[in-house]
Amino acid sequence: MIYTLQDINAKEYEGSLIFLYGDECAERNLPLGRKEVESVKRKVESGKNFVCGFDRLPERLYFVKFDSERPSAEVQEGLRRQAVEVLKMMEKDGIKTVALSGEGTLPEEMIAFVEGLTLADYSFDRFCSKERFHVDELKINAVYCTQEELDFQQRLWNRIFWCREWVNLPVADLNATQFAEELQSVAEGFKNVKCTVMDKRKIESLRMGGLLAVNKGSVDEPRFVVLEYTPSNLKNQNNPIVLVGKGIMYDTGGLNIKPDDYMQEMKSDMAGAATMASVVFAAADNALPVHVVALLPLTDNRPGFNAYAADDILTMYDGTTVEVVNTDAEGRLILADAIAYAVKNYNPRVIIDAATLTGAAVRAISTFGIAAMQQNAEKELEMLKIVGNEVYERLVEFPMWKEYDELIKSDFADLRNCGSTPQAGTITAGKFLAHFAKEVPYVHLDIAGVAYFTKAQHYFRTGASGYGIRLLYAYLQMQ
Ligand code: BES
Ligand code: ZN
Ligand code: ZN
Repeated sequence: MIYTLQDINAKEYEGSLIFLYGDECAERNLPLGRKEVESVKRKVESGKNFVCGFDRLPERLYFVKFDSERPSAEVQEGLRRQAVEVLKMMEKDGIKTVALSGEGTLPEEMIAFVEGLTLADYSFDRFCSKERFHVDELKINAVYCTQEELDFQQRLWNRIFWCREWVNLPVADLNATQFAEELQSVAEGFKNVKCTVMDKRKIESLRMGGLLAVNKGSVDEPRFVVLEYTPSNLKNQNNPIVLVGKGIMYDTGGLNIKPDDYMQEMKSDMAGAATMASVVFAAADNALPVHVVALLPLTDNRPGFNAYAADDILTMYDGTTVEVVNTDAEGRLILADAIAYAVKNYNPRVIIDAATLTGAAVRAISTFGIAAMQQNAEKELEMLKIVGNEVYERLVEFPMWKEYDELIKSDFADLRNCGSTPQAGTITAGKFLAHFAKEVPYVHLDIAGVAYFTKAQHYFRTGASGYGIRLLYAYLQMQ
């Protein structure tokens, strides 16, 4: 989609137009005919938010009415969603070029609408023979934003697309070594982003027992990727924010192989890594003045000949021993090494991880938000909750009571890799990880419910969502 800024007078504009209307009296000042005004009036009586299309043969007018009385974040999210309805109408009408204007609409509301339209316009279609519908050009009324503001947003949206593309790619097209190469080549486009790719030998020499164990059943080597963005105008030089992302390129479950259709969609088990890489690149794209490091352990989880097995006892990067109880609880094993690596090597201000970690998180809160936990990071999580509500990528905090520690104690090692009861699976996973963060402020984000949608949800089509990028980007902006 190409975005241009133009002076647009809605009443006289000759072309297809989207008109956002936030004022109370919808019948005034509209580029509508009498009958259309009547129809709008009737709709206003039945509800404050609606989208309708009117003929302007051969052009179309899309009228979007929203309730400007509601809190701003809600209005913005409403507009993101209404944009999806408009997009569907445009597809039906075959309209690919459209102008955008409004009345009683704030700049941030206009941007939110554009955001919804943009995010909904993406589809994973590189393997489709038939061309899919996409908007060619959006001409935005120049009173709502500057070119510079629009460019900033667009760079962020592009990173969301990159993330979605990586997550949507099957493991046959993107394994650990290929993903590491891809990250390296993207990083080469930035002078402020350093990408270090550690290969299997290096990982062995570091004794990352978790990552190596999970990789044992695979024919593809693991990688440990470090992306470091150091802005020229730096504030927190010695205390970076460290982002850790789960990079299971495919999760078969390993020897505890996933049954029935539980395996499907497990190409998305590297969404945490894709998200964190995208956040670092977005920060670099827009020159945010924060020092950010992403640590990305990458491997697939397979039941190949030498696969790790239940009962194995692993020695992790920081020396902690772990009894493997279930090879399908692999994410926490590779993340534990990465978190311990952050603690030992970066003196982080805060460690934040994102991981498609537990089915229990999906069962607890469905696909409407992120299950979050913290240790020594009350302030940081509070801040994340606030920005999460603003961008509508929401967090709900789960408790980290000490009672849960009992559930991950092992008879033979320091920890076991899954809880001794099936209850509170999301929390025991978070507890396991928190052990490796030691005293460092630590936030855990379980994105299992939101990283990948099996059914379209608003401006997310079926497939990878990129959920969490706008959240973490907004969090970095607050620093
Ligand atoms: N990658 C899965 C979690 C998952 C499930 C993500 C559904 C997205 C959708 C993870 O590695 C896993 O298999 N977790 C197990 C843990 C259990 C064995 C303790 C789970 O949640 O069942
Ligand atoms: Zn698993
Ligand atoms: Zn997994």
